[in-house]
Amino acid sequence: MIRLSCAVLLFALACPTRAQVSESIEEGIVRFHASAAAASAMPPSFALVRPFPAVGPAPENFPVSVSFAREGGKSVATVAVPPGTSLYGTGCVTGPFLRNGQSVVTWNTDAYGYAYPAASLYQSHPWVLAVRPNGSAFGVLADTTWRTTIDLTSQISFASDGPEFPVTVIERDSPLEVVRALAVLTGTMEMPPKWAIGYHQCRYSYYPEARVREVARGFRERQIPCDVIWMDIDYMRGFRCFTFDPQHFPDPRRLNGDLHGQGFHTVWMIDPGIKAEPGYFVYDQGTALDAWVKRADGSVYQGEVWPGMCVFPDFLRRETREWWGTLYRDFMATGIDGVWNDMNEPAVFNVQSKTMPEDNIHRADPELGGPGPHARYHNVYGMMMVKASRDGVMAVNPDKRPFVLTRANYIGGHRYSAMWTGDNTADWPHLEESVSMVLNMGLSGQPFAGPDIGGFAGNGPSGQEGVLFARWMGVGALLPFSRGHTGKGNIDKEPWAFGPEVEATCRQALERRYRLLPYLYTLFHFAHADGSPIVRPVFFADPLDPALRSEDDAFLLGNAILVSPRLVPDRSRVPVLPKANWAKFDFGDGANPDLPELFIRPGAIVPTGPVMQHVNEKSLTDLTLLVCLDDKGEAKGVLYEDAGDGWGFRNGEYLKTAFHIRRVDDLLLLRIAATEGRMRRPWGDSPRTISVRVVNAPGLRVVQDESVTAYLAQQ
Ligand code: GLC
Repeated sequence: MIRLSCAVLLFALACPTRAQVSESIEEGIVRFHASAAAASAMPPSFALVRPFPAVGPAPENFPVSVSFAREGGKSVATVAVPPGTSLYGTGCVTGPFLRNGQSVVTWNTDAYGYAYPAASLYQSHPWVLAVRPNGSAFGVLADTTWRTTIDLTSQISFASDGPEFPVTVIERDSPLEVVRALAVLTGTMEMPPKWAIGYHQCRYSYYPEARVREVARGFRERQIPCDVIWMDIDYMRGFRCFTFDPQHFPDPRRLNGDLHGQGFHTVWMIDPGIKAEPGYFVYDQGTALDAWVKRADGSVYQGEVWPGMCVFPDFLRRETREWWGTLYRDFMATGIDGVWNDMNEPAVFNVQSKTMPEDNIHRADPELGGPGPHARYHNVYGMMMVKASRDGVMAVNPDKRPFVLTRANYIGGHRYSAMWTGDNTADWPHLEESVSMVLNMGLSGQPFAGPDIGGFAGNGPSGQEGVLFARWMGVGALLPFSRGHTGKGNIDKEPWAFGPEVEATCRQALERRYRLLPYLYTLFHFAHADGSPIVRPVFFADPLDPALRSEDDAFLLGNAILVSPRLVPDRSRVPVLPKANWAKFDFGDGANPDLPELFIRPGAIVPTGPVMQHVNEKSLTDLTLLVCLDDKGEAKGVLYEDAGDGWGFRNGEYLKTAFHIRRVDDLLLLRIAATEGRMRRPWGDSPRTISVRVVNAPGLRVVQDESVTAYLAQQ
């Protein structure tokens, strides 16, 4: 006892291992550890795309410091925040976009119909982006999977249930550069198939298959653009994953084939809860493999989900993940295009915690940290599920780009899956939160995000169901993941379900998305290339304007388009917009008060295409460049194109075109400033044109120089 006290005293006073350690891991990126002992005990990171060994000591003048403590049984890391700093990030959270004063807990939670303030939603992003008054910025990543309170009431503080954890700080000149540096650490999203960037139609559930066909036909007959029809859990036989209900979905292969014939793709649901039923092949295979998560006493854990009592694959084990991947072979062979993984917090019914016991055991691979309690691995359960699903789908269709959507995830999980914001509610506050949630997801490293358009829980405020839906479609059609969805028992929520006026608004909203597709696809390319968020807060346009820091109704699409929706019912709230002269434009639909106003940045060229009913309907023979000249009479823009699926783009099968426009007296000179990649433009046989629409100088004649002639002549 005496010897121990001495040792503790000595340790505290002099032991060098207690001193904090900080190390550079990249230019301007420093990792802090509570002590040398904590540094050498650092567990493998789920967030990072690879280990980042130290490359040297932290720079002496590094402007951010971290202090560590053990308080009340928690490991705490605190970062002081200079006055006037704006805080963002923390992933998928309710409430305002600006997070100063907010506090959340990373603990993936099934949160049906969530309301503000909700401490925890479906995903965990222990990450804060801090923007100083002068526009410079830093980002703070607490690299721990354990339940962690992120408290932004005065400083940035992370208090974790787990052991001491490293804190990585990124210092950059702008918030955009911080987000891109986060992507250096966590990796970027893979390029999705182009169809996944179209509009998706879902509900819980379209069944039997006759109803699926009716909905698909409804889009084509009414000429409302749509790329994807979704199958929710009722397609299964008694909610058994990887089965099809023989009565309602007798021939999924034929259904998929017929939908493909109409230009649709399909996404089908797979949950983690596997019905505990001997004789059901998934249960039998998993049992033979000893694949299930165990209780602390070593028995197999069971919890109730859709099919009744279920077992849960231990996705932390490689063997289990590989087996899970093989289940997709026959499933995808029916012509399924994409996979929806849901309930993967994991959600468990009829228990207060809504999930499995925290002392359940995961037999995690050594490289993931080795065996440990659910409390440690809860927040990465969904992430490992979508990794397994994605790998499985890839193994079946190696030449196609996989599309996986998840509800639960962890920071870095954008490498495997897109996300949606879970079971929101059909009301005005949730419409408003759609934007702030997607913005913060983008600032937390997940660019491919969107809400259930129309709201999942409920029908909407009585008498306002239609207008709410129309407004939601107006804004949802401009978010990266664009899917209408609603819960069981609710009224129909297809774009035509609310009468002709709402239908017309939805058609216009979706036609906007498809016209903007060349630009949107280019933004996905940049998100893939360097982690740039697809939607961005308006303050990115002017980080020095304090009035923009909390604006969360309006947003930027890339850096060239500003979207200003009216998200409160009486349209009384007017978003604060950047001061520079962004020029208003529309597609002939500007008089519709339920659609957001659109603006283009001075100096920007936005490539647009024709209206299409689905992304592969037409090749881009007629390109229209939307232009807003800057005060020097110039504008620039980029178009990225590739085959829209497959991996050829990795070997140069793409075309990146840089356009440049300059005013010369009363003429505008268009030239192709540069091209990159060796793909031929998919011109098709039609006449090739590039039209130019200068929003802020409509009368000027456009002259194309020989670079354009050569470009148009390509075969
Ligand atoms: C969950 C999902 C929801 C889905 C439902 C049925 O509530 O969040 O999107 O429709 O389960 O599968």
